[in-house]
Amino acid sequence: MDIEKTEKRALLEIRETTSKKELEKIKKRYLGKKGEISEIFKFIPKANPEERAELGKKANRLKAALEKELKKKEAELKKKKKKRRVKSFDPTLPGKRSVSGTLHPITRARKKACKIFREIGFSVVLGPDIESVWYNFDALNFPEEHPARDMQDTLFIKQEGNPPSEKRLLMRTHTSPVQIRYMEKNQPPLKIIVPGRVYRNETTDATHEINFYQLEGLMVDKEISVANFRAIITEFVDRFFGEDVEVRLRPSFFPFTEPSFEVDMSCSVCKKKGCSVCSNTGWLEVLGAGMVHPNVLKNAGLNPKNWQGFAFGMGFDRLIMIKYGIDDVRLMYGGDLRFLNQFRY
Ligand code: PHE
Repeated sequence: MDIEKTEKRALLEIRETTSKKELEKIKKRYLGKKGEISEIFKFIPKANPEERAELGKKANRLKAALEKELKKKEAELKKKKKKRRVKSFDPTLPGKRSVSGTLHPITRARKKACKIFREIGFSVVLGPDIESVWYNFDALNFPEEHPARDMQDTLFIKQEGNPPSEKRLLMRTHTSPVQIRYMEKNQPPLKIIVPGRVYRNETTDATHEINFYQLEGLMVDKEISVANFRAIITEFVDRFFGEDVEVRLRPSFFPFTEPSFEVDMSCSVCKKKGCSVCSNTGWLEVLGAGMVHPNVLKNAGLNPKNWQGFAFGMGFDRLIMIKYGIDDVRLMYGGDLRFLNQFRY
């Protein structure tokens, strides 16, 4: 048993190796359970008694020397590996694309609509989602027995007792209450839009959601006519859809406007030829509107003899569904990335 020879050989092997794998093998061969050094230790008790002490010392020294050298080599290889990684950086390779989130299509549509209206002189105003019966219905000239006031259509907030309509709370069913709130505090002439979330007590299906987003508009001045409304709304749909769109008004009814209209735009999918999106009519209904009812002006503290105006309300969801040909409103609120990722542009 030549311990010195083993030491020389082992040290040389360690020093000469250039790979971590190789180094592991060497370590196992010498220091492993069945390695050469274990064999030496196993042999010591069988050696001559006078040699035993010397052999033991040598074996321990060998073990320590190898361990030290192994550690040194390990550190060296680690350093080398790091260096090599830096050296192999290839700046001509294409980079890794980092995936970022995107704005929800409704957020996008809201921003776009607000931008268009700001450019034509409207201010953006907000109102509370939790409203009183007064602002949501009474002040807007809803008769006492109007079906929209029914629990089946409106989400009321649970309250003790029987509070008066100013204190009776509900989730607003439209953004129209902000008309009153704004006119109470601001003198005409005024031009505002109100983007916001509204709530309805609905059973959801492809065209109904329990909440959705509206954009309210209100313009009040001394001489405002349906022609003003028509011009402004045509400008808006042209810019929003990015093409020349025709607009038509049909008579309708809302308690807070007189006269009232339903506003249609020419179908942007088939260009009025008739398709499934417009149910072969060539027209798509986009909003409700009308001239502000004198009672509404009165309820907000304005004299209807001095002021007149128009108001309109549209659903963002509807605008987006028309623009992209989406046939189920529930997709907008499902948070499904397969849907949302299609709006990356
Ligand atoms: N508030 C009405 C709705 O939610 C829309 C509307 C607004 C109609 C303003 C006329 C004037 O259906």
